[in-house]
Amino acid sequence: MSLPPGNFGLPVIGETLSFLFDPQFVEKRYRKYGVVFKSHILGKPAVFMMGAEAVEFLLSTGFENFSWRDGYPETFHKLLGRSLFAQEGEEHRRNRRLIMPAFHGAALARYFETMDKLICKYLVKWEQKQEFKWFEEFKQLTFEIASQIFLGIDSSDEAKRFSDLFATLTDGFFSFPSLPGSRFHKSVKARDQILVHLDQVIDRRRQHPTDDALSLLIQAEDESGDRLSTEEIRVQALLLLFAGHETTTAMLTWLVLELARHPEVLEKARSEQQHFDSPITLDQLSKMPYLDQVLNEVERLHPPIAGGFRGVIKPFEFAGYQIPQGWMAQYSILFTHRLPELYPNPEKFDVDRWKDTKQKPFSLIGFGGGSRICIGLAFAKLEMKLIAAHLLRSYAWDLLPNQSLKPVIIPTRRPKDGLKVRFQSISRLD
Ligand code: HEM
Repeated sequence: MSLPPGNFGLPVIGETLSFLFDPQFVEKRYRKYGVVFKSHILGKPAVFMMGAEAVEFLLSTGFENFSWRDGYPETFHKLLGRSLFAQEGEEHRRNRRLIMPAFHGAALARYFETMDKLICKYLVKWEQKQEFKWFEEFKQLTFEIASQIFLGIDSSDEAKRFSDLFATLTDGFFSFPSLPGSRFHKSVKARDQILVHLDQVIDRRRQHPTDDALSLLIQAEDESGDRLSTEEIRVQALLLLFAGHETTTAMLTWLVLELARHPEVLEKARSEQQHFDSPITLDQLSKMPYLDQVLNEVERLHPPIAGGFRGVIKPFEFAGYQIPQGWMAQYSILFTHRLPELYPNPEKFDVDRWKDTKQKPFSLIGFGGGSRICIGLAFAKLEMKLIAAHLLRSYAWDLLPNQSLKPVIIPTRRPKDGLKVRFQSISRLD
């Protein structure tokens, strides 16, 4: 059996530069070689796989062939420590079970009011500002929501200081640790400052539990009565804050961009909101099928994370090709979502494609899938729906001229200039 088609590129660096800097890297090769192809990136041979069958294999049926830990660059492990990102097997299952309740069910219902209050604060701010870059604003909002709900930080200034440290931390994920003075070293410093702060908050919560997610993590017990150690809590909290805002920010930005580009969709989504009384409640949010369709289409066309990496720990066969141990494997979220056999006319933003369709498993994977599906999925969906419902009921926005809406991919996929808009309350129109 042969290796997949494709090219290893130059000696040593392989195709790393095109992978990092050419937004069409995967697309070009998919067009040439099909849904499974090989390359050589970030120091290793790699196989790229897309399509529902390939994704199901990688995330579910062939799970034992892959390691999550080995799939992410060393920078992620150095910066995020032994958090879920670096855990596998029983250790991962135990930690995930302990963390899960803080982001589901009853906990989400308790967060609703805090989330709503913060969103309303930003809506007032945006109305006063009138013109702004929405990506930056969403980033502040989602970070403030995460820092208040996860850690109980309730001062905007403190959240802002924290958010700046996170921006420096994030810069280090795609940097070169061995280069002296590189972004990586600044990133480590920022991470250490965040951890010092987290230690103080954890100490306070141990003495005086509240109803934030951190208090739930501190109190969580597994079947044998064991709890997470302080070291485990601080790195998991760091990961959750990191993973929990930039992704949501990107998806919200695409949501408002597509609504501005498609007035007929905006109108239908607005009229769905008219079926409900004010104020918005948690129960109402579960009865908005058209908004669900819109969010599915945004997730499909604009997934914030373009793909997930794994290390190949056992050789395997797929689609008639042999993949050796030691390679890297990437499942492509972005291109699975754009395969015409799964989504006819895939480039079109078409909300109606979700009307009555029975979805093929592993075909909509913006949050990953299988046992390592995004732990914040329900939290992120609640947050996005609540923001969307407010915007649809009471606000209008236009895109400002002279800006590039072209997507940039790293670290999360978003419009290049951050989406400049003019914003106002509907009651002020005319
Ligand atoms: C629109 C928002 C979000 C998107 C699109 C998103 C996307 C994803 C994806 C694609 C994965 C799997 C990556 C892979 O398979 O390699 C993932 C995992 C993860 N996400 Fe999210 N995410 C979002 C929001 C959040 C939030 C709000 C949190 C925190 C509360 C969060 C925490 C995590 C964590 C901890 C993992 C790793 C789970 C594990 O390994 O068990 N995410 N996310």
